[in-house]
Amino acid sequence: MTSDQAPVLWPLIAGQAPPATGALMGWDLGSGGLFHADPAGWVLDPNLPVANPNVFVFGKPGRGKSATIKALILRMADLGHRTLVLGDPKDEYAPLCRALGVEPVDLGPGLPARLNPYDTHATRPGDQAELDATIGHWVRLTAALVGAARRSGGRAPVTPTDTTVVTHALRDVTGVNRAGTRLAPVTVPLLWQRLAQPTQELIDACSYADARHFLDETRLLRDSLGQLVTGTLAGLFDAPTTVRLDPDAPIQSLSLARLNAAGDDAVGTALLCLNAWAAATRPSTGTKGSGEGPGRPRLVVRDEAWKQLRLGVDAVAAFDADLRLSRSTGDIQIAVAHKPSDLLTAGDTGSQAVEIARDLLHLTDIRILHGQDPATADDLDHILGLGPVARQAVTGWAMHGTGRAVWCLGPRLHRVQTVLHPLEQQLYDTNSRLRDGRNPSRSSSNGSTG
Ligand SMILES: Nc1ncnc2c1ncn2[C@@H]1O[C@H](COP(=O)(O)OP(=O)(O)O)[C@@H](O)[C@H]1O
Ligand SMILES: [Mg+2]
Repeated sequence: MTSDQAPVLWPLIAGQAPPATGALMGWDLGSGGLFHADPAGWVLDPNLPVANPNVFVFGKPGRGKSATIKALILRMADLGHRTLVLGDPKDEYAPLCRALGVEPVDLGPGLPARLNPYDTHATRPGDQAELDATIGHWVRLTAALVGAARRSGGRAPVTPTDTTVVTHALRDVTGVNRAGTRLAPVTVPLLWQRLAQPTQELIDACSYADARHFLDETRLLRDSLGQLVTGTLAGLFDAPTTVRLDPDAPIQSLSLARLNAAGDDAVGTALLCLNAWAAATRPSTGTKGSGEGPGRPRLVVRDEAWKQLRLGVDAVAAFDADLRLSRSTGDIQIAVAHKPSDLLTAGDTGSQAVEIARDLLHLTDIRILHGQDPATADDLDHILGLGPVARQAVTGWAMHGTGRAVWCLGPRLHRVQTVLHPLEQQLYDTNSRLRDGRNPSRSSSNGSTG
């Protein structure tokens, strides 16, 4: 008898599945029982080694990462959770949204929706610490945007000098350097204009001799930022926000499918903007009249987060900061990557990125590991300290069926098979286009969505 079979005969010796609260996901192969996912409940349970409810999902493409998340969302919706899909690059959450009676918001060139990444929740007038924190958040965002633009252009990374100039420019645009007690609104074009037409105050603050000197030294910075206003993302993130999210809807999704043609870097940059925007705009609670109450719990899904995480060290730092900021709102953060090296490829600029990446991974106690190739499993082992049992499960068992994953609750491992209802299988099917391509006769007349 192998250890696969033994738990069936001695279930009490095998590790027990977590308590039956939250969303019923499928089978726990270890105990032979049902497996329920309840990130927030796990944190509250003193018997489980989970300190925060954030979830990181890893796995090769096609292993069922997205389907597992969609199942989790749908089942948690029954328990009163709401979901925000923060950037859906393939429009694959749309069928689920429509099934729940919600139309996703499309973001793309030529569409009306605008989203200003420099939005912020209202700071209390005169609260200096809050003002500084917001400016710090924007500096990180700007550095990440500039870094992403330069990376695509094969240029040098963001320097400390760039950061200093951005900080002073933001203080100038918002008016905090003039003892302002509230922030004037910022958009990318406003910041860009300030860099193109620096005030004497700004030139002095950055210690340049004169305007000419300032303009010469900051040309690369200006041009990189300008790409958001003139490049493929023009008209998306460079104006005041027009998107209004309904706090009572069971699900909200911001679709980026129209951007796909522009490439992974454009999508990654868009995700960066979405993340910054969502982290800084505190969710409205939806409980009318009660002001700042906790409201209903919310899941924030960052599927395909790796597209942002590959954009360089500043993008990883911004993602990390956004996750930390979001924690204070009580949201449950779910991020999807293919492999840990998505985070580490940003590390070509040095060990700082690797440190940030490790920190980021250790910010989550709940990890869902779908099937991986042996080489990637080595990476996972190296960074997360998987151990031989989990490594074996990830490269063997989990590769032999979609929806199979090792759920890590801290050091506790559970082999879980997510089970989909036939209706869910239809809603979550991301292979339908492949199938349609093979059987043209079966593709229906509405298959022309492009
Ligand atoms: N638990 C499951 N049971 C049956 N089919 C599944 C399951 N999980 C995923 N699938 C199917 O496998 C395909 C790939 O899943 P998907 O979630 O898109 O993969 P990933 O996000 O990892 O690339 C989809 O067509 C989906 O319907
Ligand atoms: Mg997916």
